[in-house]
Amino acid sequence: MSERMPLLTPLRIGTRTAANRIAINAMECCDADTNGNPTETAFRRYERLARGNAGVIVVEALSVVDENRGRLHQLTALPQNQKGLTDLVALMRKTNPKPLIVWQLTHSGELSSPEFSERVCVKPFPGYEGRLLSDGEMDEILERFVFAAKMAHDCGADGVDFKLCHGYLGTQVLRPFNDRKWKYGGSWGNRTRFAYEFYERVAKEINDPAFLVGSKMSMWEGLPGGVGSAGPDTPIMDLTEPLDLAKGLEARGAKFIIESAGNPSLTLSLVQAYKNVPETSYLHFGFQKQLKGVLKPQTVVIGSNNSIYREKEDEVNWCTVCDNCIEFLIRQRPVGCSTYEREYSNALKEIRREAGKLAETEKHT
Ligand SMILES: Cc1cc2nc3c(=O)[nH]c(=O)nc-3n(C[C@H](O)[C@H](O)[C@H](O)COP(=O)(O)O)c2cc1C
Repeated sequence: MSERMPLLTPLRIGTRTAANRIAINAMECCDADTNGNPTETAFRRYERLARGNAGVIVVEALSVVDENRGRLHQLTALPQNQKGLTDLVALMRKTNPKPLIVWQLTHSGELSSPEFSERVCVKPFPGYEGRLLSDGEMDEILERFVFAAKMAHDCGADGVDFKLCHGYLGTQVLRPFNDRKWKYGGSWGNRTRFAYEFYERVAKEINDPAFLVGSKMSMWEGLPGGVGSAGPDTPIMDLTEPLDLAKGLEARGAKFIIESAGNPSLTLSLVQAYKNVPETSYLHFGFQKQLKGVLKPQTVVIGSNNSIYREKEDEVNWCTVCDNCIEFLIRQRPVGCSTYEREYSNALKEIRREAGKLAETEKHT
């Protein structure tokens, strides 16, 4: 018991206090309706999470646009979602007023599925070539992020996580690979412009010190030219840029950084260690330590890839790291836990009966 006590102590984040140090990482579950609104299963999921009493709950990646999406049934943060998302936050608060509720905001960029939306990119990455975004289009996307952050504030959320991880647009623009000469590429100053302008705009336009802004960051994508690599065509790790970014975000008002790594579409095991290679997760502790080393003590660093450290308490239904939830995600089907919930174990059987065994786990996550 004494061992886990620190986890149960309160933690200051900005002007707010999380009741404990347990944070629920964002997990998109592909069960929105056709307007991007939460459905019954989404309401049920977040009600349960609120009941779970974590200090912080990050609501899954909400797309700030409809036209470029990675998920067929993705939640969106558009004007049409104001009511649904207000209801979602209200339900969570009614269930348990304590957890801090943060929305993760994203744009899929080159990870948008051409099957139901348009794939766009900052520079064609091998295997993920899409239509090249112009300066003006990126300016417009930034507007949409700012709009979504304002909506989070209006809907009663406690803050937003401006997504800079896992190979989505916020990551694509930061990469050394983005050496295209344009407003948002080439120099480090240009590659960080998108993230920094978001923070500056939100600080000015929402102007509420109680509203928490932060980012989940992939520290190293493990790809040639990916975030945290030494140049546009090498995968060799160099954390100079990600650490500088974390400091730059902090200087512009970030109150938390959620540490992550990898790119689920290409380097999934860096995001979440495979069950048979658990030691990959140690990388995360190193990245967290480096972040803490450059950030102010009051800037909160939240970890990820902790599911692998399971089975410590009997009363918890621990994640078994079966990764069947990833299979649902890859297949664009509503995501749930096939280990503990019959509804999802039945769904998985049905999917495999219809579609056969999954060929690849990394492509198209
Ligand atoms: C089904 C599924 C959906 C996910 N969706 C998101 C997401 O919306 N945003 C995000 O940043 N990470 C997402 N992740 C990654 C997790 O938040 C987390 O970083 C990763 O699973 C490793 O941490 P863990 O061991 O605690 O699960 C998802 C993971 C899974 C399995």
